[in-house]
Amino acid sequence: MVPGSNPGPGIHLVFPGVFSQEAEDLYWIFCSGYAVTSGFLIVLEGIDGSGKTTQARKLVRWLRKKGIPARYTAEPTGSAVGRILKAMARRRNVDPRVEAMLFAADRLIHLEKTVKPFLERGFTVVSDRYLHSSLAYQSASMGNRRWIEELNRFAVKPDLAILLDVAPEVGLSRIKRKKSRFERIEFLRKVRENYLEYVERGELVRINAEEAIEEVFSKIIGVVEEFLERRR
Ligand SMILES: Nc1ncnc2c1ncn2[C@@H]1O[C@H](COP(=O)(O)OP(=O)(O)OP(=O)(O)O)[C@@H](O)[C@H]1O
Ligand SMILES: [Mg+2]
Repeated sequence: MVPGSNPGPGIHLVFPGVFSQEAEDLYWIFCSGYAVTSGFLIVLEGIDGSGKTTQARKLVRWLRKKGIPARYTAEPTGSAVGRILKAMARRRNVDPRVEAMLFAADRLIHLEKTVKPFLERGFTVVSDRYLHSSLAYQSASMGNRRWIEELNRFAVKPDLAILLDVAPEVGLSRIKRKKSRFERIEFLRKVRENYLEYVERGELVRINAEEAIEEVFSKIIGVVEEFLERRR
């Protein structure tokens, strides 16, 4: 096959679950050639247990089936900073200023090492959490939203950010593993309120994520299709 040619949606159907993420990425890089237009950064946001990981993975599969090169990614990342953040989530007495700075640093690493390179190769990047997670969570920890926004000023705005909105009771009831420091009902109420303020500002598109997985997914598809139509 000639680099730059798109083999059509039929051939992409053979991939889900068959090869590793890396093999699929290489395949898509080959198909999309070198001088392609940039892809989009689509982000799924929401409190813990809202369904971000489930839906982000489904969205990547859906985009690929449509012949759109797509890559799943998540924050905190697997970088050294991301690993510190994951360990910190299990500890008490964490300085929220230090944590906010580490989240902002991990985001820039994510942006430079993963998001931008894939966007430049024409991939649509689906990120499971991004900028608005810090704006909602770290603002809830610190109460100083302006500073959190300033700290994240170098993080490019997503092209489309969707809020999977659930009540904290619903999100927490879905989490079976040991809960982190963030996963407390009062805290998640504040986080949800912060997210909803960004919906009011037009930065996030709200979807009711309390319904069944497939119903939530079809609403996400509706929003994504409309977005792709507008950007075409
Ligand atoms: N709409 C839904 N209805 C019922 N269960 C769901 C729904 N969406 C996801 N789940 C289930 O809830 C659990 C948490 O979902 P998921 O891991 O996708 O959430 P998350 O937002 O990524 O959580 P976290 O913030 O902790 O990473 C999983 O077991 C998943 O199968
Ligand atoms: Mg998740």
